Amino acid sequence: MGTSTMKGSSDVLVGLQYGDEGKARIIDMLAKDYEVIARFNGGANAGHTIETEHGRIALHQIPSGVFYPDMLLYIGSGCVVNIEKLVHEIKDVNRLGIDLTNRLHISSQSTLIQPHHLIIDELSDQVIGTTRNGIGPAYSDRAMRMDGERLLHIRLGDFLDNPSEVLGQVEKNLLHVVKSCDLNNVDTNIMQKFDDALSAITPYVEIDTMFMDKLARSGKRIMFEGAQSFMLDVVKGTIPYVTSSHTVTSHAYTGGDLSLGFHRKTIGVAKAIMSRVGYGPFVSEFGGEDSERYCMEQDGRTHSKEYESHLDVQRFLKSSNMLDIGIALRIIGNEYGVATGRPRRIGMMDIVQLAYAARMNGVDELAINKCDMLRDFSETALGGIPIVNKYSLHGQTIDYVPASSHTYKQVASSHLILDPFEQDISTITEYNHLPKPAKNFVRMVESALDCKVIGLGVGPKRDQYVVKSG
Ligand code: IMO
Ligand code: MG
Repeated sequence: MGTSTMKGSSDVLVGLQYGDEGKARIIDMLAKDYEVIARFNGGANAGHTIETEHGRIALHQIPSGVFYPDMLLYIGSGCVVNIEKLVHEIKDVNRLGIDLTNRLHISSQSTLIQPHHLIIDELSDQVIGTTRNGIGPAYSDRAMRMDGERLLHIRLGDFLDNPSEVLGQVEKNLLHVVKSCDLNNVDTNIMQKFDDALSAITPYVEIDTMFMDKLARSGKRIMFEGAQSFMLDVVKGTIPYVTSSHTVTSHAYTGGDLSLGFHRKTIGVAKAIMSRVGYGPFVSEFGGEDSERYCMEQDGRTHSKEYESHLDVQRFLKSSNMLDIGIALRIIGNEYGVATGRPRRIGMMDIVQLAYAARMNGVDELAINKCDMLRDFSETALGGIPIVNKYSLHGQTIDYVPASSHTYKQVASSHLILDPFEQDISTITEYNHLPKPAKNFVRMVESALDCKVIGLGVGPKRDQYVVKSG
């Protein structure tokens, strides 16, 4: 730790694969050790479902510790904020009897998602398969700053400084896009709704740019909650099939408005059976490109959750076709997007990619979710738990993820098969009670990543989690 006056500390939790690793539930498990949970990147593209005693709730922008009554929640300057969606989310939380006044603080330096960002995202994306939340257009306006005299990057604090001027700028940006794209079906109330949402959000805007620093110095323990995941980082991920923000650990401090002198440790989250939504390389995908096509047909609408709910899961699981195995695992694991409802592409765990992600993020501790699903492999023709453990490129073994997606798609991977287990582990609460093959799986991951596993998710419910100490 940097100086003797620093009393608090901060930890960073990041997803290590393609998103949806169950980051929020791990935060929920660890939250009792923290007083502040802060977001540092992304916006409403994130989607977390949390099971609570009040029922199931989907969160997109509010940090995960919301159900701990004394937890402070912070949305940092690295985030892009969709105010209308945030107002709805706050109301959803209020309906559960939870008041966020004086608990939720949104950096005045965070970027506003403007109506034209949503329109551009909808119109321009054909290849990436974005979540249509205006994320890319907002971050690109942030980088552009201005277009002639038109102010492109508008932050929450700018609105507080000069509300009517800012609304005028937002409208100008909207009209510019409406005109240049020749649109004639834009909601006529769009500006009024935006204005209303801005007023509703104003009480939560934090104008003190040293808010986080003061909390840390006063002894608070902070957890930075990563949205999206390492393989979706705008620079380090599988370009261009990525999100538009930095998802890597070190960015927590830029986007989360704190000096990295407070950093204590990094917790990585992975899934025992991987998933990806949207297009892009996925070496260990069951069914390879056939699965990508199947899942993304009509932007994910053709093979929806509803469609797949009528399939015979057992028949698909026992199939000799890898695409079918992926379909069965998706149904069993309920792997459909929270933000978009799209079917997620499914693959086996890839420890070459995971070890790379662990190194690049400085992971000290790892939590692995969906371990209960490893059991399902005992019913497949694979004969055990498959794990990608080797990449080669043009005949040479490599231990890293190539810089380009084009090259990544040429990587030949091979996998090993670990012993299967048939026992349902979803009710197990003690690590020692896990079947031997499940422990072997954990040991293998620990040695490949050179870091310790701290817990295993064995089901979606809050208490379906096995703590591993030592
Ligand atoms: P959480 O926080 C999984 C993916 C989208 C798309 C690409 C770009 O729940 O893990 P964007 O809307 O960000 O411009 O989309 O990134 N993506 C996610 N995939 N989980 C997420 O968030 C994601 N956020 C974005 O599917 O491929
Ligand atoms: Mg998610």
